Amino acid sequence: MKRLDGKSILVAGGGGIGAELARRYAQEGAGVLLGDLDLDGARAVAGDIERAGGRARAIRLDGADEDSVAAAVALACETYGGLDGLHANFATFVDGGFDTGVLELPLADYDETMRVNARGYLLCTRHALPAIIARGGGSIVYTSSLAADAGEPCRVAYAMSKAAVHALMRHVAARYGRDGVRANCIAPGVTLHERVKSAVGPEFMEWALGIAHIKSRTGRPDDIASVGALLLSDEGSFITGQIISVDGGATMRP
Ligand SMILES: NC(=O)c1ccc[n+]([C@@H]2O[C@H](COP(=O)([O-])OP(=O)(O)OC[C@H]3O[C@@H](n4cnc5c(N)ncnc54)[C@H](O)[C@@H]3O)[C@@H](O)[C@H]2O)c1
Repeated sequence: MKRLDGKSILVAGGGGIGAELARRYAQEGAGVLLGDLDLDGARAVAGDIERAGGRARAIRLDGADEDSVAAAVALACETYGGLDGLHANFATFVDGGFDTGVLELPLADYDETMRVNARGYLLCTRHALPAIIARGGGSIVYTSSLAADAGEPCRVAYAMSKAAVHALMRHVAARYGRDGVRANCIAPGVTLHERVKSAVGPEFMEWALGIAHIKSRTGRPDDIASVGALLLSDEGSFITGQIISVDGGATMRP
């Protein structure tokens, strides 16, 4: 038996980490629906999974649009007979300037960050929850960030949006635990893949290795997928309401 055999999982947001989530969950036996604004990218990942013998489909998803989220949940249910898990993973990085503080942050960037990263995860939750409850319970995983707790001098809107997701996660865990629903956040540290590599320079990499206690490397998408697979599986059935850092020890959450 693989850990996610027979489970149906919606991965909302592909990209560097999301592609690896979809691959890992399919390798573990799940039927995966991968949704992303970038349909071609999501289709490419689903195609790779199917060629490797897994079960995956792709859909164009705007996680900040209610109709689009509803359509993704409906397709996952129709394709795999229900929904056992949601991994909300997409994010906007419009508030990405390392030299921008709260005084300089354009309000439009703040609004967009909260609309996608916080409101979008709320929409995904509202549509996935009834389907998961109808299945008799399941698991929701949210991708947060080290930024939510690190107290960085930049990316204030991004950090606020991820802190909001922590509150959403705790609410879901508290209110729907009796329905068999678990909810947790994974808070990655610097996790290298093509987009990150192209966006940062050597100074950033030095900073990333400096704040972590594992110095031999930065994070990889499969580090996040390993924890996601545990949280979505029955092996994680007594874990709920948690923020699990996968950051080489950069944060040491009490
Ligand atoms: N890579 C890191 O170092 C790092 C660190 C901490 C947290 N994270 C978090 O990990 C998650 C994945 O990030 P990543 O590094 O893979 O980034 P990425 O840019 O590679 O992937 C993000 C994906 O989200 C999609 N997306 C954006 N807006 C969307 C929307 N409205 N609806 C649907 N899809 C949308 C993009 O098209 C993209 O494919 C994010 O939540 C991010 O905040 C990443």
